[in-house]
Amino acid sequence: MMRRGRKVRFVSLLGPLVTVLFGILFVPFLFFPGPWNSLAAEGFAESNETREQSRWANFSHSSRAHKAKKCSDCHKFPSANWENVRDESEAFPDVTDYPKHDSCISCHRTQFFSGSKPAICSNCHVNPSPKDSRRHPFANPREAYDRSQKGKSSFSEFAVRFPHEMHVAMMGSNIEGGQGEVTFAKASFRPLVQSETCSMCHQLTVPLGDGDEEYVTPPPKDLGDGFWLKKGTFMSSPIGHQQCFTCHSADSGIEPAPANCGACHQLRPAELETDFDAGAPKRMSIEDKMLVASWRTRDSSATFRHEFFSHMEMDCTSCHTISGIRTADWSANSVNVASCKNCHITATSDDGGILNYEIDSRKENPKFRCTKCHLGYSDLPVPESHTRAIEDLAGN
Ligand code: HEC
Ligand code: HEC
Ligand code: HEC
Ligand code: HEC
Ligand code: HEC
Ligand code: HEC
Ligand code: HEC
Ligand code: HEC
Ligand code: HEC
Repeated sequence: MMRRGRKVRFVSLLGPLVTVLFGILFVPFLFFPGPWNSLAAEGFAESNETREQSRWANFSHSSRAHKAKKCSDCHKFPSANWENVRDESEAFPDVTDYPKHDSCISCHRTQFFSGSKPAICSNCHVNPSPKDSRRHPFANPREAYDRSQKGKSSFSEFAVRFPHEMHVAMMGSNIEGGQGEVTFAKASFRPLVQSETCSMCHQLTVPLGDGDEEYVTPPPKDLGDGFWLKKGTFMSSPIGHQQCFTCHSADSGIEPAPANCGACHQLRPAELETDFDAGAPKRMSIEDKMLVASWRTRDSSATFRHEFFSHMEMDCTSCHTISGIRTADWSANSVNVASCKNCHITATSDDGGILNYEIDSRKENPKFRCTKCHLGYSDLPVPESHTRAIEDLAGN
């Protein structure tokens, strides 16, 4: 079973809800035939058509027919424009444009030639017509894409597999060369302490900075003990190929080769449930895409802040064991609750651990919500890992 893959809970309510709504909206039509009926039928036809259109405007890698193809059937490495999308000094062979028509047309002749503005064109084109070939920015490089209307709020269907344990040891920083340049550790390269190595690819997203405003957006005046997102919560990760393709290039021969997309990109399960609260970004007027992308995949603690005095003093690897970082494995939570011990978990409740307090409170009141570390998980049953963490400290 996918631990992180629990279905979102409202799904079970959806069935009855649909039945009730259907009853309210349509049962009257059964009893009052007449003009209403034809109106309803027209409305239906239109919305069906709109739905049919928008369906062809939303390409997905998860549909069975697409999944059965090789990545390279559609993404040809490198794309013709790779030298133009980045500055000359930074350009490297890469896929930086959409697949061409011949990747689709064999199966989608009908959709390509339907009506004056076929919906399928708009997956790639801004204003599709036989004379206008302008395209949206492709998702790579992300910088330009994220600024575009299309990219602003779209999230990748993939997770990246980056086996940290195979890489971290071989990375060093070239003191003479550019800061943060990734290369093999040789004798002339200073070995880095872990956190320095980590910071080559991970930095704080939206750090506290000099200002004294702790929150990402202004909280309501009556917030009280309620949760509102603070700065310094998330760490960034690479958003492109720059670093990876320094080593994984066609020239170096280091597998996976850059054309082997599927070795690094793996589809996320669609129904993934994490500790994220999907309503929160809108409620808090948060639009930063990088931030929301990290939040969505938080499967341990959605409220944990990296930039916080006590947390900052710890080495990255005290919470993230390198071999425990699984960037594309849904069966494991990335951080074990035991790494919060001594501070938030204590041998007895009298020692003040918040976990002890929350578990006690839950025993007294089954409706108690665990909101210190959690958003989405806060009303789920207490997992075994939590009670075990206390038992381990108590020496049981
Ligand atoms: C049937 C053709 C097809 C196949 C096969 C295909 N892709 Fe794509 N891919 C596309 C199209 C079209 C887009 C642009 C979609 C958009 O921007 O709406 C795209 C976009 C992407 C993106 C950016 C969007 C995102 O969700 O992150 C990535 C990454 C990607 N493809 C990786 C892959 C990988 C990895 C494979 C193989 C496992 C693969 N593709 C197989 C057609 C394909
Ligand atoms: C091997 C045949 C095949 C190829 C090649 C192919 N598709 Fe599809 N595509 C399908 C099938 C089959 C469906 C599902 C149709 C259905 O459910 O009725 C589909 C569905 C879609 C949909 C609807 C949403 C979704 O993803 O399920 C879109 C949009 C789409 N394709 C776009 C494209 C584009 C763009 C390309 C080229 C980059 C492409 N397809 C290449 C067979 C193909
Ligand atoms: C999967 C993405 C994709 C879809 C879907 C798509 N195009 Fe394109 N289109 C491209 C790319 C990429 C090019 C550039 C091809 C090249 O440089 O050889 C292109 C080129 C063009 C051109 C320039 C002339 C040519 O044929 O090279 C026109 C015009 C065009 N597309 C119109 C359309 C229309 C109209 C549709 C829908 C019926 C459509 N495209 C669907 C990606 C797409
Ligand atoms: C060469 C770049 C690179 C270095 C160096 C690196 N990482 Fe990562 N890390 C990545 C990538 C790529 C991902 C996947 C990001 C994504 O999912 O989009 C990732 C993801 C993570 C995640 C999230 C795991 C999850 O559950 O999704 C953690 C935690 C992490 N890294 C910690 C570390 C630590 C600790 C170090 C130092 C010991 C480190 N990383 C060094 C590239 C790097
Ligand atoms: C006190 C424990 C702790 C320490 C120390 C710590 N982290 Fe984390 N980190 C977490 C937790 C908890 C998460 C949330 C994981 C989740 O829910 O998926 C996280 C998430 C991440 C992520 C995924 C992005 C995000 O913010 O959700 C990255 C990358 C990461 N940490 C890197 C680092 C790096 C690099 C360091 C050292 C500079 C570090 N962490 C130090 C506990 C810690
Ligand atoms: C410093 C050079 C270097 C960089 C930078 C680098 N890699 Fe690697 N990577 C390697 C080497 C060398 C191997 C092969 C290790 C082996 O086979 O023992 C490898 C192996 C891999 C593998 C295959 C693991 C397996 O199970 O066989 C993946 C996936 C991978 N790298 C992803 C990435 C990603 C993603 C990035 C960028 C975030 C990246 N690498 C950056 C050198 C690098
Ligand atoms: C060596 C590993 C590796 C290979 C091979 C690789 N990628 Fe990536 N790709 C990454 C990493 C790491 C990122 C940045 C992290 C992320 O997007 O989650 C990325 C990002 C992207 C993005 C930006 C998407 C987004 O929304 O973040 C696209 C598009 C993309 N890759 C397409 C491809 C295609 C197409 C191929 C094959 C031609 C490919 N990649 C091969 C590692 C790889
Ligand atoms: C000090 C922070 C902290 C507190 C307090 C806390 N948790 Fe957690 N919780 C975590 C971390 C870290 C994880 C991920 C790893 C794990 O399960 O060990 C987690 C995971 C979970 C999960 C997902 C486990 C799974 O199997 O996927 C649930 C459900 C959960 N907690 C419920 C609760 C409940 C209910 C309470 C209150 C009694 C609570 N938590 C209190 C930190 C905390
Ligand atoms: C070295 C001690 C230490 C460890 C280990 C530690 N924390 Fe904390 N944390 C603190 C202190 C001290 C505070 C401030 C007092 C408080 O809010 O309880 C704090 C505050 C917090 C807050 C509230 C932050 C805020 O701004 O409101 C969260 C959430 C949190 N920790 C989660 C975690 C999680 C999850 C872990 C384990 C992955 C963890 N902490 C590990 C010491 C620690």
